[in-house]
Amino acid sequence: MPDPRHLLSLTPIETWRLVRRRLPVLRDGPAWTAAELLSSAKHIRGIRFAELLLRQEAIVRRHMDWSPLNFEGQHVVEVGCGPLAGFGPLAIFCGAASFESADPEWNEKLFFSEPISERYLHLFHADLVGLYGPRMDFAAFRSALAQRMTIHRSGFETAPITAPVNIVLSQSCLEHVFPLEATVAKLEAIQTPKSRFLHLVDFGNHYPTKHPLDGLYEQPAEAYIARRGKAINLLRSSDVTRLFAESSIASSTIPARRVADNYRGTIHPWWRERYDDEALFTQLVLVAGPPAIVDS
Ligand SMILES: C[S@@+](CC[C@H](N)C(=O)[O-])C[C@H]1O[C@@H](n2cnc3c(N)ncnc32)[C@H](O)[C@@H]1O
Repeated sequence: MPDPRHLLSLTPIETWRLVRRRLPVLRDGPAWTAAELLSSAKHIRGIRFAELLLRQEAIVRRHMDWSPLNFEGQHVVEVGCGPLAGFGPLAIFCGAASFESADPEWNEKLFFSEPISERYLHLFHADLVGLYGPRMDFAAFRSALAQRMTIHRSGFETAPITAPVNIVLSQSCLEHVFPLEATVAKLEAIQTPKSRFLHLVDFGNHYPTKHPLDGLYEQPAEAYIARRGKAINLLRSSDVTRLFAESSIASSTIPARRVADNYRGTIHPWWRERYDDEALFTQLVLVAGPPAIVDS
């Protein structure tokens, strides 16, 4: 269990999530409530997925000849879409033939419930119309979501998602997966050399601290995880690059945010023995490939 002193520093919701993650009996229990999601500044804004994609593709374009992902007619897969179907509604609105994901926290009944439909999907749809034009009205959008999205309530590594997939996405998920090897193996199994992918990985501490890496490097990774629970796997960008390089997936790792300048914390020798400054202070990376649709 996490250190009880640490639990006292968290909000009740954070404490509950942390404890739940460590208790197998509760791990599959109902997680999110509509009220909790609708009061979250992050979750309430579905259009953030379009904003994230626009920003991420702009960053990738600085590093390679990247043509924008085109969802039209594609089979789109997301690793760990979260409780509100992640990139799913955006992909479906933009013409994806199907969207498939797996997330242990998925609850289909909650997603299609009246409060989520009224207060989340309606606004998301209106924002999508503003950004991409009136591709479909709300009724058609909602029924396309019901018909063309399949989300498994499980870990991605064990989900019955099969090859071939056209587009693979993830947003701040790979750093939460234990062990990441199994997820990369699953990606390897469902992707072809033509599958285009974009993973945003956040190596920060995931707390609203002064610096995004505060507290991470004061002890070896295992000790941090033992204290705080299995919330983040503490791999660094060099580990993720290596895992993809060891697979058959040809990928590029692109730094999206380096945060070395104002880091004031101590760094335990365990970290210095394994990582250089580049790996220690790159908070956000994009793992991407291939630049455009590959002709066979
Ligand atoms: C920080 S949240 C991000 C959720 C979503 N991508 C978003 O941006 O809102 C991390 C997500 O990873 C999911 N997750 C953790 N382990 C997973 C696994 N083995 N397979 C799939 N998803 C997983 C969690 O349930 C959680 O929804």
